[in-house]
Amino acid sequence: MSKDKFYITTPIYYPSANFHIGHCYTTIIADTIARYKRLEGYDVFFMTGTDEHGQKIEKKATEAGVSPKEYVDAIVDNAKDLWRALNISYDKFIRTTDTQHVLVVQKIFKKLYEQGDIYKGEYKGLYCTPCESFWTKTQLVDGKCPDCGRDVHEVSEEAYFFKISKYQDKLVDYIDKHPDFIEPISRKNEMLNNFIKPGLEDICVSRTSFDWGIKVDFDPKHVVYVWIDALSNYISGLGYLTEDDTLFKKYWPADLHIVGKEIIRFHTIIWPIMLMALGLDLPKKVYGHGWLVIGGNKISKSLGNYKDPREYIASYGVDAVRYFVLREVPMGNDGNFSESALINRINGDLANILGNLVNRTIGMINKYFNGYVENKKINEEIDNKLIESALSLKNKVSKNIDDLDISLALENIFDLLRSCNKYIDDTTPWILAKDENKKDRLATVLYNLVECIRISTVLLQAFMPDTASNIFRQINTNKTTFDTLDRFGVYDSSNVNKAEVLFRRIED
Ligand code: MSP
Repeated sequence: MSKDKFYITTPIYYPSANFHIGHCYTTIIADTIARYKRLEGYDVFFMTGTDEHGQKIEKKATEAGVSPKEYVDAIVDNAKDLWRALNISYDKFIRTTDTQHVLVVQKIFKKLYEQGDIYKGEYKGLYCTPCESFWTKTQLVDGKCPDCGRDVHEVSEEAYFFKISKYQDKLVDYIDKHPDFIEPISRKNEMLNNFIKPGLEDICVSRTSFDWGIKVDFDPKHVVYVWIDALSNYISGLGYLTEDDTLFKKYWPADLHIVGKEIIRFHTIIWPIMLMALGLDLPKKVYGHGWLVIGGNKISKSLGNYKDPREYIASYGVDAVRYFVLREVPMGNDGNFSESALINRINGDLANILGNLVNRTIGMINKYFNGYVENKKINEEIDNKLIESALSLKNKVSKNIDDLDISLALENIFDLLRSCNKYIDDTTPWILAKDENKKDRLATVLYNLVECIRISTVLLQAFMPDTASNIFRQINTNKTTFDTLDRFGVYDSSNVNKAEVLFRRIED
C-alpha cells in the first residue's frame, strides 16, 4: 500500500520554560494528521523544532546572566519533554542554532543578495521586540503594536531589505490559481485584501542593534531577520543547499504547514515570496488555525492564564488532553479552554460513550462466553445499519482529515460508538442470554460489537494512540491496519482479555 510522500510541519517554537495548552494545539493537530497519513500508507515526514534567535532571547539571557546559547540549551529540552508527554511522533526536531540550519540561512541570504532581491538601505521605523515585527505608523493601533498591544520603539539603522514588492503580482496570481493554498478561506481573504493587495512594501531583513542571530556572512555586523531565519527551517531541515539534499528532493514541497492564525501573515507572504525568489515550489497548503482562549483571551505567558499542560496530563491522562483539544475546537475557529469543559468531555464522551462501550462489551463476553467471542453469523435486520455505518466510517473520517475538519472526524467515530451503545440497548444481550436457543444470536451480537470497536479503534489510533493500543490489547487483536477496514468480519474469533477501565469518570 505504498502511497505518495506527505511532508507536514508545525511552526518552530520559541524555546520556553512556560509552555501552555495553547502551544500544544498546533502540535497535537499536526501529530494527528501525520499519524493518520502514515496509517493511510503515506511516506510521512513530520518536522517540528525551536526558533532560538532574536533580541527577545538575547535580552532574557542577559537578565539571567548567561550567554544566549546557554540560555536556549537549558530550556530547549522542555519542548522535547512536552512533546514526549503528548506522544508527538515527529521525524525531525530542528533547532535554528543547528550548524546546518545556520549555514543554509547564510547561503539563502547570499543567493538572494547576489541576484538582487536583497539590497542594502537604511531602516527607519517602528519595531515591536516581543513580536519581532516592524510596523508603519498607520498600522499601529492606538500607537501600539497591532498584534500584542505593547509599545513599539523607533529604530534607525543600516539594514538589508528584501524586495518583496517585486513579487506582489506573482503572489496574487499564485493565490488566485491555487484556491487551496491558504485556508481557511476567511484568512485567505484577509491576507489578500488587508495585506497583499493594498501593496507590499520591501521588508527589512537584517539588524545591527543586537547580536544573537545568524550573521550575514559577507557583512557580519548584520544578523538575519528572525523570520527569514525561522521560515527557512522548513527547507534547511531537509538539507536544501547542503551536500546531502536527499530529503529535500524527496519531500519538498511541503504538503501542509499548520500554523496559528497570528503567524499566517509570515507564512503566506514572506515565505512564498522567499521560495519564488529561490525558484522553488510553494507549499501545497498553509492552514491558519484559531486559538485556545480562556474567557475570550488568548492563553499566553504574558496574561499568566495558564497551567503547565503536563499537569493536565498527570491528572487526566495524555489522551484526554489530546481528545479535548482536537474535539472541542472546530478547526479554524477559536475555542474556549477550561478544566470543566475538559472534564465534561472526559465524562460525556470518553468515559460514557467509548469507555462504557468497551467495558460492557468485554464484560458480557466474559460473562456469557468465558471470554471467547465468535461470529456465529445469526444476523438480523438491525445489524445491517450498524455494519453499513462501520464500513462507511473510514471514508468519512479520511475526507474530514483531508478537509482538516479534525473535530468532525472524531465526531464520525463517536457516532459509530454511540450507535453501538444503542445497538446494545436494542438487542438486549442480557435477555438473549436467558434463552439457550438464542446463544448463537448473542454471540453474533457481541461479535458485531467487538468488530465495530476494532474498526473505530483502528481509526482512533491517530488521535489517541495509547488508548487505541489499550483497546487492541483488551479485545486481543492484531488487526490494526487500515487495509482491515474494507470488510466487516476481519476480527478473528478469540479470547478477549479482562476489561480495564479506559477513562474514569471525574466526579465534581
Ligand atoms: N517562532 C514562531 C514561529 C516560527 S515558524 C517559522 C512562533 N512561535 S510560538 O512559540 O509563539 O508559537 C508556536 C505555535 O503555538 C504557533 O502556531 C502559535 O499559533 C501556537 N499558539 C501559541 N499560543 C496559542 C494559543 N493560545 N492557542 C492556539 N495556538 C497558539 O510563533
